[in-house]
Order: sequence, then C-alpha cells, then structure tokens
Amino acid sequence: MAVNGRSTAPVPTLPSHADPDTDRVLDSGLLHELSYAFGGPFHFLLPHRFDANLAAFRTALSDAGVEGRVYYAKKANKAAVWMERCAAHKAGVDVASVGELREALGHGVRGENIVVTGPAKSDELLRLALLQGCLVAVDALDELDLLITLALTGAVRPARLLLRRLPPAQPHSRFGLNAAEVETALDRCVRAGDAVRMEGFSFHLSGYATQPRAELASELVDLCLKARVLGLQADRISIGGGFAVDYSPADHWHTFLADQRPEHYHASKTFQSGDFYPYHSPVAGADALRTVLDTVPEGGHESLAARLKETGTLLMMEPGRALLDGAGASVFRVQGVKDRDGYQILTVDGTSLSLSEQWFNSEYLPDPQLVTPTGRPTGDEPHPACVGGASCLESDMVTWRKIPFPARPRIGDLLVYPNTAGYQMDSNESPFHDLPLPPKVVLDRLGDRPRWRLDRRPAC
Ligand SMILES: Cc1ncc(COP(=O)(O)O)c(C=O)c1O
Repeated sequence: MAVNGRSTAPVPTLPSHADPDTDRVLDSGLLHELSYAFGGPFHFLLPHRFDANLAAFRTALSDAGVEGRVYYAKKANKAAVWMERCAAHKAGVDVASVGELREALGHGVRGENIVVTGPAKSDELLRLALLQGCLVAVDALDELDLLITLALTGAVRPARLLLRRLPPAQPHSRFGLNAAEVETALDRCVRAGDAVRMEGFSFHLSGYATQPRAELASELVDLCLKARVLGLQADRISIGGGFAVDYSPADHWHTFLADQRPEHYHASKTFQSGDFYPYHSPVAGADALRTVLDTVPEGGHESLAARLKETGTLLMMEPGRALLDGAGASVFRVQGVKDRDGYQILTVDGTSLSLSEQWFNSEYLPDPQLVTPTGRPTGDEPHPACVGGASCLESDMVTWRKIPFPARPRIGDLLVYPNTAGYQMDSNESPFHDLPLPPKVVLDRLGDRPRWRLDRRPAC
C-alpha cells in the first residue's frame, strides 16, 4: 500500500463505534471556535448520554424485577455536571475522599444517596459521612473500630455501613476483609448495638468478567442471611463497578490486535497487548448488568436475580466508566507538524496528562478524528502520524501509534479523541509546565448550533 508516496504495510486503524451525537458536534464548527477561545485543549461533555446510560441500568434492574440502586463512581470524571445529573435523577454517588464527598453534597446529592468507598478512610471523611448519613463501605477492622468509636462518641445518628469483602478469587487484592475478618467484624457490629446499622456487604472486582461478579454476589447474599440471624439488618449488597465499555466494533479490534507491530508506533515503542484496555467488549454497560443478573451461580439452581428477590436483598452497583460511555470527548489543536521517515510527528497544544492511558503503560487506542477548519476530510490514502504533547519530555506522547489520518494534518487542525469521559480526561491531569488544565464544556443541546456552557464558572 502507498502511504505518503512510500510503499509499506498498512498502518492498523481502530475506529470507534459510529456516534451521531459526537459527529454533529464535530460538524457544527463549534470546536474550532472553542479552541480559539480557550487557546488550548478542552473536553466537551454530553450529559444526555449520562442520563441515557443511567436509565439503561435502571431498566435492566426493573426488567429483572430486582430492587436496586445505581451509584455513579465519581473517580471516573471530575466534572460537576455528573453530580448535577445524579441529584436531578436521585441517583447515588460513590465517593472515596473528602473532596469527592464535598463535591457530591455541594451539587445537591443527598448524603443518604452517597456510598463512601476506598481504603483507610480518614477521621475527617468518616465524620463527615456520619453527619450526612452516608453509607460507608468498611474496608478494614481498624476502620470499623474508628467508625464505631465516632458513632458512639457524638455522632447524631447510627453509622450506616457495608462490610467490603476481599474477593476470594483475587486473594492478592489489598482491599476488603477476608473470611476471618468478616467474622470478627460481624461480632463487633453486633456488640456496637444501636451505634451502627450494618446494611450488608460489598465488593469491587478488577476486570470486567460477569460470571465472577454473579458468583461473589451470591456469596454476599449468603453472608447477608448469616448476618440477619445475628440480628443485623444486612438487606443489601454492592457489586462495585467494572461494567465494560465497548469502544470499537469486534472486527476492527481483533484485526488491530492481530496486525499491530512495533513499527506501527513512533520509536518502535512496544506495548503488551494484555495491557491495553479491552476496547471491544461483546457484553458491556447495562447489558453486562443484565448478564450478571441472569447468571446462575455455580452450584445453584436459580439466577442471581431470583436469589436477590427471594431473599429480599437490594442490589447496589457503582459504575464509573459505563455511565460515561459516549458522554464526552477531548479536543487538541495541532501546533506543529514534523516529517519523519514515512510519517509525521504532530505536536498538540496539551499533554498526555489529559489522555491518561499512557500512565498505565498503555495507550488510548480509539482513533482520534481529524477536523480541519473546513470540516472532516475524507480520502483513501492514509497519512500516518503520531501525536506528541507540548512538553519537553520524550515520553509525553498522547499517541505513540502512527494513526492513519485521511489527510495530512496541518497546524490549526483539531484532533478529537472520542469517548474519553471515563477516566481518560482528568484522572491523571496535572498543570505540568504551568499549562492550564483543559476546561470542560457542557453541551446541553445539540442541533445545528450546539448550546454550550462551562462545566464550572471561572473563579473571580
Ligand atoms: C470500589 C469501586 N467502585 C467502583 C469503581 C468503578 O469502576 P468502573 O469505573 O470500572 O465501573 C471502582 C474503580 O476502581 C472502585 O474501586
């Protein structure tokens, strides 16, 4: 194949799923205006997609006849708009720090709809959670002791808590209580009497497989039954997050994995394919919840949904990434173009700190779209280019891969990375080089002229 006049093997491509909402934004002309106005990279957010994802999770619960609650895992994106949507829809929020808890409360989420996760919670976090009536997922025995002490010495209400289980199938996890610790914790809860309300158990599993989630959920139902015999409330379980997002069609993903080689990356950079996020998932989002609910746990004879109903157990979940599927994208402006041996090195106006995958020894693979001042170019001849950040670090590559663009990128063109709201935009952001953090723009209405506002008003 001819690439820029040279004969070479085709450069693999990984297009994301077609997304008419994002395309309308790309074709509206707004992004160039905003890039000019901000003078740097920015992210745009589509709150209606968050609403739709939340509704899909709730529909999966009601279709299965299961009582459940969805808590948005706030760590996946720092924007205020998600808290606003959770408050408006009376959805829950999963927070893991004082800052996150303040943000959720400050945007109108009620304390009773907040679950506090994360290890070794500080006194300050536990105290605030108690005062606001939040549910605390207790990670360790010393944390339980601290929570009970705080509840006994001055809190206005009992401490609402879940006991987080160390997953037996992931015994090296540093989170949760092992079987012996669960016994001890139950005993301490019983002895604490009215100071605590032990509402059930929780877990969060690494990976995205549905079967292990159903298995462990069923074990937690058993634990609830045991705790109820001890006189504890134990009427709910949380299965955490880890509902996959399907970024790219199956055929593209499998072809990409089969074809990609070091020569397809700048400086022949190598990545372990196992370190890539699984950008294609046959079962994702709310469908993954449906699958978990339909699964018959090993040794059982009924689905998890049936077990939950039969035992009067409420199902909680904490999706982060999956609620943000399709809910945002990241925009960088090309600031420099350099020719190398058969490809270009683009330098954009931001850094890889705003597309965080590099920091996990991996790379965000869905292809960015090229948007020129006159629109999205089309063309048959690929123009491969990698993308560097505007910093002095060799390792600051937004994309090491040589992306086959449909036209030669030029200074002033925009690169729009699709579907970046889940963890990519801001989990590792840093104002390195005194570069400002990219602002976030909320698009409340699409159409020929999308309506935009800043996610947060600038401080005066
Ligand atoms: C306790 C807990 N809940 C929920 C989540 C959210 O996971 P995801 O964004 O994969 O749904 C995490 C992620 O680390 C977590 O640790």
